[in-house]
Amino acid sequence: MEMIIQPDAETASRIAARLVAKLVRAKPDAVLGFATGDTPLLLYKELARLHKAEGLDFSRVTTFNLDEYIGVEPDHPCSYTRFMMENLFNHINVRPEKIHILNGMTKNIPEECARYEKAICDAGGIDLQVVGIGADGHIGFNEPSSSLSSRTRLKTLTDETRRDNARFFANASEVPHDAITMGVGTIMESRRIVFLAFGRDKANIVAKAVEGPITAMVPASALQLHPDVKVFVDEVASCKLERKSYYQWVYDNKPEWEQF
Ligand code: F6R
Repeated sequence: MEMIIQPDAETASRIAARLVAKLVRAKPDAVLGFATGDTPLLLYKELARLHKAEGLDFSRVTTFNLDEYIGVEPDHPCSYTRFMMENLFNHINVRPEKIHILNGMTKNIPEECARYEKAICDAGGIDLQVVGIGADGHIGFNEPSSSLSSRTRLKTLTDETRRDNARFFANASEVPHDAITMGVGTIMESRRIVFLAFGRDKANIVAKAVEGPITAMVPASALQLHPDVKVFVDEVASCKLERKSYYQWVYDNKPEWEQF
C-alpha cells in the first residue's frame, strides 16, 4: 500500500484526481469504479474542473459504482444514482449508456448481482476503483464479517452504518436496512485502487485497515493483499498510523519516474 498523507482533503483529492486524469488520458476507454458518500466529493469536483478547464475527456470511459440501497428508486434524493449524477456525471461528458449502477429496485437480487458481475467482466474489468471506508471498516457495503472473496450480493447494513448514513436521509428510520454491493473479491480484482479517507473520525479505522491484521472484521484490511493501492489521507485521518513518518519520507522522496 502506498500512503499519501496530505495536510488536508482538498490537496489529497487533487492529487488523486491527477492520478485518475493521467489514466483517462493514457487510456481514453478506461473502466472506472466509483464510490459515493462524503469522502470522494472533492475528487469528483476536481475531475469536473479538469473536464471543464482542461478538456479531460470521459466520452469513452465506462463506469461502475460500488453499491446501491435496496428499495430506493434511482431518482430518490438519497439514491446513489442521483448522488453520482449530481456530483459527477452531470458535470463531465460520460455517456449515459456507459454508466453502471446497481438497481436497488430489482425484483431479482441474485440475477441483478450476476448481471453486474458479468457487465464488469464484459467491460474488461475495472482499471481503477475509488473506495472510501466506513467507520466499521466496510468498503462498498461489505460490512464486518463479509467474506474477503465475496462477489456482488445483498448485504444487511450494520446499525453503525445506518446511523452514519442517516445524515443523508430526512430521518434515521428511512435508512434502508439492505444494500447490494460489489463484493470484496470483486473490488480486489480492480487493477488499481484509490483509497480515500479524511477526517479525525476515520483515524482509528484507517490504522486498523492499513497496519492491522487482515481480517473479515475489517473488510478494508483485505486491500493489504492488493498489489496497487494508493491510500490518500489527510493529516487528521493519519494520526493513528504507527509508521506515519516512514510513509511520509517515502512519499517525499519518491523517484521522479514514480511521481504522478
Ligand atoms: C459508498 C461506499 C461506502 C463509503 C463509506 C464512507 O458507495 O462505498 O463504503 O465509502 O461508507 O462513507 P463517507 O465517505 O460518507 O464517510
